[in-house]
Amino acid sequence: MSTALIILAAGKGTRMKSDQAKVLHQIAAAPMLVHAMRAGQALEPDATVVVVGHDGEAVASAAKAHDPGVQIARQTKQRGTAHAVAQAAPALADHAGDAIVLYGDTPFISQDTLLRMAEARKSHDVVVLGFNAADPGRYGRLVMNGDTLERITEFKDADEATRAITFCNSGVVAASTKHLFDLIDAVGNDNASGEYYLTDIVEIAREKGLGATAIACDESETMGINSRAELALAEAAFQANARARALDDGVTLPAPDSVHFAFDTVIGRDAIIEQNVVFGPGVTVESGARIRAFSHLEGCHVSRGATVGPYARLRPGTELAEDTRIGNFVEVKNAIIDEGAKVNHLSYIGDAHLGEATNVGAGTITCNYDGVMKHHTEVGRNAFIGSNTMLVAPVSVGDDAMTASGSVITRNVPDGALAIARAAQENKPGFARKLFEMLKKKKLKRDERAG
Ligand code: UD1
Ligand code: CA
Repeated sequence: MSTALIILAAGKGTRMKSDQAKVLHQIAAAPMLVHAMRAGQALEPDATVVVVGHDGEAVASAAKAHDPGVQIARQTKQRGTAHAVAQAAPALADHAGDAIVLYGDTPFISQDTLLRMAEARKSHDVVVLGFNAADPGRYGRLVMNGDTLERITEFKDADEATRAITFCNSGVVAASTKHLFDLIDAVGNDNASGEYYLTDIVEIAREKGLGATAIACDESETMGINSRAELALAEAAFQANARARALDDGVTLPAPDSVHFAFDTVIGRDAIIEQNVVFGPGVTVESGARIRAFSHLEGCHVSRGATVGPYARLRPGTELAEDTRIGNFVEVKNAIIDEGAKVNHLSYIGDAHLGEATNVGAGTITCNYDGVMKHHTEVGRNAFIGSNTMLVAPVSVGDDAMTASGSVITRNVPDGALAIARAAQENKPGFARKLFEMLKKKKLKRDERAG
């Protein structure tokens, strides 16, 4: 069965009090829109249409950045959820399959729930996702008759008896693409808001003799985000879930509440993630690696047996091979560090490759940027980079080579060579004592003058 996703993301989100569209605000380092798009992947859609309006260009480019295949539909005026879905019709004119409507500001619908909706579609023309609300508030109410969903009534349009219903509309709807757009064509705006309600398609479907039902999911999945406070709650919910999942997968977290995951963090079993570690997007940590306290990782891969931190920063393009060591106050960016290599203290390694078992001394810096362009540093295997070496890229240090500490390396160092690139030391006998005496006299005179 081919499936199209329609994701509504045209709303302004006034209550966010933001210059940015609501759906671009991030949860776990990804726009909430991307969370909705990822949930939809469970259905292996052959088309995805994102309906944009407010801040439409930015929303469209975020959607395309995540999935270059998405189609964008524009809703210039927000005239209701049915009107929003109607904007996707031209993009899906030839689509012969199912369509499912998701909201860009409802990021936590689970893949399992969407698969259950697809299953329910086998026996019903229209399937709505509902939930039993602890506080039904202003949600649309699902009026059921046994298995049959009779209609959805918006809070504003509901009488007392209907408002007493606690089974509420999440907004997610599935139908055949053809039915969906035919039903939407028949929706009017004669209601309390003067909007075209997507929810009206249920009653219209019933009048046409089509079958409608609702399935329930956990309320936590339908959490919509309208304010900064709700965004913070959503982040907390995501993190709680990610921590529980990591523990369940066999990851050791001595202080789970202090670890922050990104939407796509992957961690192998028996890895240890210590206190206050933060993951940005695109991180994979293999089994048995250890990430020590207060480290920040983003766009990197840490292999089995590696140790990172405490207080390390791994930036995009970092590849740590097995049994590598990255110590405190070390920053690594766009660098491949081969098996067993060590960068233990206070260093910056960027745009570089370090060979196997190479040891980089404290305070070493790859000077990769000349103010205009970035350049590469190549270090061979079993090399020893002395403390406080400046490797001025582009430059290479060969296998089994050494640099003397304090060197500024501007020319390539051949295999096995020792490079010394610093002023030679001169000792002046007795000079220090004389200098001390001179300075002490000077100070005495100054103190006398000052009285
Ligand atoms: C909607 C449902 C309600 C449900 C609730 C769940 C309707 C009429 N009502 O109400 O039954 O309980 O969601 O959260 O569908 N949007 C557009 N263009 C528009 C209008 C909305 O893209 O013209 C988008 C919004 O950006 C948002 C989503 O659709 O992502 C829902 O719109 P919103 O106005 O929040 O609907 P509710 O009134 O909350
Ligand atoms: Ca809403």
